[in-house]
Amino acid sequence: MDKKLIVLGIESSCDDTSAAILKGSNVLSNIISSQDIHKQYGGVVPELASRAHQQNIIPVVDTAIKSAKINRSDIDFIAYTKGPGLLGSLLVGSSFAKSFSYSLRRPLVSVNHMKAHILAHFIEDEKNSSPDFPFICLTVSGGHTQIVLVNSFTEMKIIGTTLDDAAGEAFDKSAKVLGLDYPGGPLIDKFSKSGNINAFTFGKPKIKELDFSFSGLKTSIMNKINSSLMTNSKFIDENLNDLCASIQHSIIRILLDKVEKAIIKTKVKSVAIAGGVSANSYLRSELVLLSKKLNLNVHIPKFEYCTDNAAMIAMAGAIKYKYGKINSDDYSEQASARLSF
Ligand code: KG4
Ligand code: ZN
Repeated sequence: MDKKLIVLGIESSCDDTSAAILKGSNVLSNIISSQDIHKQYGGVVPELASRAHQQNIIPVVDTAIKSAKINRSDIDFIAYTKGPGLLGSLLVGSSFAKSFSYSLRRPLVSVNHMKAHILAHFIEDEKNSSPDFPFICLTVSGGHTQIVLVNSFTEMKIIGTTLDDAAGEAFDKSAKVLGLDYPGGPLIDKFSKSGNINAFTFGKPKIKELDFSFSGLKTSIMNKINSSLMTNSKFIDENLNDLCASIQHSIIRILLDKVEKAIIKTKVKSVAIAGGVSANSYLRSELVLLSKKLNLNVHIPKFEYCTDNAAMIAMAGAIKYKYGKINSDDYSEQASARLSF
């Protein structure tokens, strides 16, 4: 990466407003403003998310520039999330990025959010090395669950995907059944630490090849909880840690069994995880065990680059600026909720 280039990254695809400054592949600042307003509704309310982005975007960008100790005029180009995500949220970030690029007279680079999760592995970090190509990346977030074969910075192929819910949704919906707040993934992770992974067993999906399904697991969890509550109204309270550990174990086994298949099929030597669910401590430790069993190099991102953040958007923008095709004078490019990979 060209060490001299300074990128402003802007992320607003869901419920985090984020701005980051990257110099080469070093993060100078990465500011994230999470929207707590959605907690009371048990999930992200798109209309409220757009309004909060509108409120937060200028202060977040301003803080990112000040924390990086640069001037606005030092920015060489601007990278923003084009999609996929919530359209109203994406429109706030993309409109701001366009205006900022126009007023500063600096190029604009659109970024695919899912590719950015993967490319976060190329952010410079003295503790972790970047993966060598080709590698398999399990990308697991609130909206996506994909196994991606990454052949180069620009050549990525989805070789497995979910047929229904995403892994993050499986965590969040299970948490809701347990009466936990949104987002439930981090809470299930926390309570699991004192629970027994074998206390309860839930139905395992039988899906061919490298694809996933989580809807059957959700039904199995709901059935177990509802039938147990009929005989013991305190069932959840009395078994919360064990329920969390067993649910988490089921979700992570579904994911890693397919990752193992993908590695055997593709014969790659490196494996990585990305996206919000890659913050899960059990996924991280089980992946290390799998990598030892299969003699693989394993790449696990820093926590702050797992969930949505603008540093990964800036990194993906820098890579696209160097290796991809950009048309920096075209301000007609539109945000896209269902942007394809
Ligand atoms: O990538 P992300 O921040 O946003 C999307 O692009 O969707 O992912 C959010 C998802 C949520 O479903 C959240 O519950 C899950 O990541 N998540 C976790 C953990 N931290 C975040 N799931 C399990 N364990 C965690 N520690
Ligand atoms: Zn994401």
